Parts: sequence; C-alpha cells; structure tokens
Amino acid sequence: MTLEEFQNEIMEGIPSELPTKAEYDLNLNHAPKRKEILSNDEKKLALKNALRYFPVELHTVLAPEFAEEMKEFGRIYMLRYKPKHKMFARNIEEYPGKSLQAKSIMLMIQNNLDHAVAQHPDELITYGGNGAVFQNWAQYRLCMQYLSEMTDEQTLTIYSGHPMGLYPSHKDAPRVIVTNGMVIPNYSKPDDWEKFNALGVSQYGQMTAGSYMYIGPQGIVHGTTITLLNGGRKISKEGESLAGKLFVTAGLGGMSGAQPKAANIAGCVSVTAEVNPKATYTRHSQGWVDEVIIDLDQLCARVSKAKKSKEIVSIAYQGNIVDVWEKFDEENIYIDLGSDQTSLHNPWAGGYYPAGISLEQANEMMANEPELFKEKIQETLCRHADAVNKHTAKGTYFFDYGNAFLLEASRAGADIMAEDGINFRYPSYVQDIMGPMCFDYGFGPFRWVCATGKTEDLDSTDRIACEVLEELMNNSPKEIQQQMADNIRWIKGAQENKLVVGSQARILYADAEGRVKIAAAFNKAIKEGKIGPVVLGRDHHDVSGTDSPYRETSNIYDGSSFTADMAIQNVIGDSFRGATWVSIHNGGGVGWGEVINGGFGMLLDGSDDADRRLRSMLFWDVNNGISRRSWARNDEAVFAIKRAMETEPLLKVTLPNYADDDLINSIY
Ligand SMILES: NC(=O)c1ccc[n+]([C@@H]2O[C@H](COP(=O)([O-])OP(=O)(O)OC[C@H]3O[C@@H](n4cnc5c(N)ncnc54)[C@H](O)[C@@H]3O)[C@@H](O)[C@H]2O)c1
Repeated sequence: MTLEEFQNEIMEGIPSELPTKAEYDLNLNHAPKRKEILSNDEKKLALKNALRYFPVELHTVLAPEFAEEMKEFGRIYMLRYKPKHKMFARNIEEYPGKSLQAKSIMLMIQNNLDHAVAQHPDELITYGGNGAVFQNWAQYRLCMQYLSEMTDEQTLTIYSGHPMGLYPSHKDAPRVIVTNGMVIPNYSKPDDWEKFNALGVSQYGQMTAGSYMYIGPQGIVHGTTITLLNGGRKISKEGESLAGKLFVTAGLGGMSGAQPKAANIAGCVSVTAEVNPKATYTRHSQGWVDEVIIDLDQLCARVSKAKKSKEIVSIAYQGNIVDVWEKFDEENIYIDLGSDQTSLHNPWAGGYYPAGISLEQANEMMANEPELFKEKIQETLCRHADAVNKHTAKGTYFFDYGNAFLLEASRAGADIMAEDGINFRYPSYVQDIMGPMCFDYGFGPFRWVCATGKTEDLDSTDRIACEVLEELMNNSPKEIQQQMADNIRWIKGAQENKLVVGSQARILYADAEGRVKIAAAFNKAIKEGKIGPVVLGRDHHDVSGTDSPYRETSNIYDGSSFTADMAIQNVIGDSFRGATWVSIHNGGGVGWGEVINGGFGMLLDGSDDADRRLRSMLFWDVNNGISRRSWARNDEAVFAIKRAMETEPLLKVTLPNYADDDLINSIY
C-alpha cells in the first residue's frame, strides 16, 4: 500500500460502500470467546447500537453478520471494517491532517494496535486480556478520520472508544479527551462490564491500552528492575549489591516474563519457575532467561554454584513453583528475595496451576471437574504459603507483587495472616518498596516516544536524559540520590538491553524536577533541529493519577485509599495545563470497579508553547500525587512537597500536623 493509499484510507473514515471481508486470520492471537451475558432483547439492542455507525441500506447485510459475530465471539468487532493498512507507529509526518498534535495521537493509537505489540490485534486489545483501544473497527476508522480533519481549535471526545465528535475549543486545550469504563459506581461489578461491553457502550481501557500509551514489555522490565533493586536494599547493608544473592519467583508469561531479565539487570541469581513449557521456551528463545533446568537436584547444584561465584544468571525451572520453595527448604538453599507473579487474579481459569499433576491433566480437570480443580488449587496455595513461611523464618524477604497471591492464599485458608488477623503477614510491593521508596518522592514511570520513528532520535534522547540526570544528581539531597543513580544506570544500559518493541520509546523513573528538566531539554533539542518531535507520557501506575487501594495507593493509611479524588483531580488539572490528550479509566491492573486511573500524552514540537505547557503540566501532574501522599502523613512525601514548595513560590500545599499517639490512646 502506498503512502497516499494509506492516507486516503484514514481520511475516508467509515466507507460508504461495503468493504470486502478479509479471511479470519488464524495465525493471530485472538481474544477468547466472551461469556454469553445478554438477554434476547439486549442482543437486539446491541445490534441496533452497532448498526448506527452505518447507512441504512447496508443494514440487511450487516445485521446478520454482526449477529453472527455476537454468537461466535460474544462481542461485535465489525471485522469486515478492519482497515487494509498495516498497523504500526509511522513517522509522524506520514499521517494526514492539519494538526501535528492530532497526528501524534494517530501514531500512538497505531502503536497500540501494532501486531508486534498488541495481544489480540483483531479484537483491538493491547494487553491484559481485555485492555481495549476501541470496541470495534468502526470506532477506529471514525476516530482516525476525525483526527485527520481536526485543527488546533477543536477537541475530540472519546467515550469508551466511541468518538462522539469534534467540538470547538482553543489551542491550549487537549486535542482529545478519553474516558474509559466510567459507570455509575453501583454498576461496576465484573458482570456489569461484560454486559455494557457486549452492548457496545463501555470498554475496559486497562491503563495504557485505552489511553494510547503502551510501549511494549519495556515498561514492565524497568518497573521490575526498580522493585528488585529497592527490595534488595531492604535486606542489604549500606552499599552492598545484589551480587551472589538469590531471587525466587514464578511466572514467565506476558508480564511476569520480565522478571529474569530484570533480575539480570539488577545483578543477582534468579530462579523463575514456570509450569507451561511453551512460556518457558518462548522466553528462553527470546533471551529473556538464560538457562532452563527441568530437574530439581540439578537446579540446586546450579544455584549453589552461581551463588558461590556471584554469577549474574537467570534460571528457568520448568515445573511448579511450590516444588522449588519446598526443595530449597529441604536442601537449605538460602533465598534472599522471594515473590510470585503467577496470574492469581484469575485462579480458577488457568492463572495458577496445582502441584503434583501435569499441565495437561490440570487443564482437563479445569474444564471437566472445576470443583476438584479448585480444591487442588487451594491445597497448592496452602503448601506454597507454608513453604514460603519456612524460608521467611530463616530470613527471606518476601513481597506480594500485585498478583493477588496473598489474597487468594488467605481465601484458601493458608497461614498467611498477620497476628492482628486483618493484615497479611507480608507486604505488597507498593506498601514496602515502590510507595515509600519511589512514589512518595515523586519517582514514577515517565516515558517518551520519538515521533520520527528513528533510532538515532532515541539514542539522542537517551543521551540528553542521562546528562540531565547526572547534573541533577550532583545537587540532589541524599534521600533521592539512590533513585537517581538507578535511573542513570538504567538509561546507560537501555540500548544494550534491546528493549524496543514497536515505537521508538523509552521509560525512565523520574521525579517532577527530572521530568520537567528532561522534557525541556528534549524540546530545546527539537527547536535546534537535533531531533524530531517527541511524545511524552507515563504509565498510569504512578505517583499520581491512580487511586487503587490494593496497589498504587496501598501505602496510604489515613483511610482515604478507597477515595478517587486524586485521579480525577489529576486529569482535570492536566487538561487545562497543556496536555495534548488526557484519559480517565475505571479498571486497570486490578480489575473493573477496583481502581480509577488516569494519564496524559503531550507532544513536544520544539515551540515556546510546548515549553510553557510542559513546565506547567508535568509539575502539577507529579505534585498533585505527592500532596495527597503528604496529607496522608507519609514522611517521604512531606519531605518531597516541602522541597517542591521551596523551588516554586506559587505552590502552597496544606501540610498535616501529627497528633500524639498517647493523646489519642488516652481518649479511645
Ligand atoms: N506488580 C506489577 O506491576 C504487576 C505487573 C504486571 C503483572 N502483575 C500481575 O502479575 C500476574 C502475572 O501477569 P502475566 O501477564 O505475566 O500473566 P500470565 O498469565 O501471562 O503469566 C503467568 C504465568 O504463571 C504460570 N504459572 C501459573 N501457575 C504456576 C505455578 N504454580 N508454578 C509455576 N508457574 C505457574 C503460568 O503458566 C503463566 O505462564 C498477574 O496477576 C498480573 O496482574 C503485576
């Protein structure tokens, strides 16, 4: 397809004539059939909803076709309207249109649907099984057409993938406002999502799927590396590295597969158990794990040798994680750090496998004897927790990695509760590591995409970011020097670690000052013609933006962790301070109804306007979250917000007074 044909297809939107239907591509990874949730009357409504995108004369062909999709997939994806052009982040100059900002959004949308990036590309799902960019192909086509038409005096609103329309606004307003899965709170149970999504009126945007900010596996590698390094510090003496220390975990799947790579970057010995040989050998062939061992005695010998010689090596154990924890206890192999990333958010449908039976037997049992399968899972979870407890009694530091391990183990009756019977015996990674060591200081997953698609631009931005961080480190207080050093190390090794999949993107944990200074330096380089335009953004899993009581805000202890004011304030505040687009979602990571999360995208084009916007918006975007964390009496955040007030006279944040515990206890 020529560039002109691509541009014409974008500008055409929904074609007035019926496009030819492509063959169903069996080589693609397709979304599972969704469960039947609609009544007959609701199916009629879903069909009418789908048909409103198309001229009436096409309805006699499309109505039975869409009804068939509903029957076969549980959703109407409108596969006939899949565009002919290839999905990938093109050079920004190749997109048709009048607004460079709108073109940057087209680029990011196409990256999220790139076959190399997206989990289920035909179903417009980027990651997490249900993280959607759009609900159907009509929405994609209409959205791209609007973006190709709009000027910098208009704003496009997107309701859960549906482009409602273009509205007059002004050049400092966002070009796009996205809302995903926003529902009336009482209607936010998982089955409500199934129903609204099947009706075509709502979608699950995950965090960076429906906000067009996914950058492939790089994001999770960096987050896992930072977690491991900081987890390591909790158990090490000052200045001691992770060399010769052992990290044991499970899961070599979608995101868990980042663990061995991150462990290598962090510099330790790691063992990651995985029951599914397909997952193990995929990660091995991709170079994300160094060695595969299938025998427990061999594993013990190899690990002992690696620990002794302080080798940096990642080992996959092909088998069940419970066997590793138990064997290492018997053989007295000391585990320094332990965690788990099996998919325990989904324990009954293949997220966690029982010990003692083969994968094939387990899959059969899951389908034919679900009650027995559940029993086996719960027995395994109890064994798993018992073995972990034996190691922690010897000194192992164990943390929950946001996969609901502790929650499901407690439901299975495992010995996993703290003495108070309310809390768990072990912390979650946000409570103990990410929250106090990163988020409370303002460090979070800042990211950027080079909109020319050129590797030279990415190399230049890496260099610029590194120079900025090195300069900042010279003048930063000791409390944040370690975080700075980690990120300098990350950015120096990023190219060598070959992390790019899809767009030329980079993730880097930075605080407000770092983000503003790096962005300003990029904008200057663009102005001077050294690099092309750059899109800034962040994961929603950050200091600010996400209210999630079991993850991002789990280290908020003033009772406000179940409120969602911060996420909403963040997005509203970003939108009038210069974001190119903003998004706010229900769901993401921990599930529909469990979290409200938001984020932004911002185009840097080298202009003075971009410089003004980035300074205003990035400063707010981070400091809003720090303010909330500080008001919750988190000491690190009080430190960070006081520091921010010293640098910006217009910032004046309400600080908490600390009540004396003896006084409180004398009253209650
Ligand atoms: N903390 C975070 O930032 C974070 C990030 C990503 C994912 N998560 C969570 O981590 C979990 C994993 O995510 P994913 O995308 O890798 O899921 P996934 O399902 O792709 O991978 C999990 C893997 O665990 C394996 N497994 C299951 N039971 C096992 C057992 N008993 N022993 C050994 N291996 C076993 C499965 O075969 C699978 O390959 C999810 O619950 C997710 O929500 C947390």
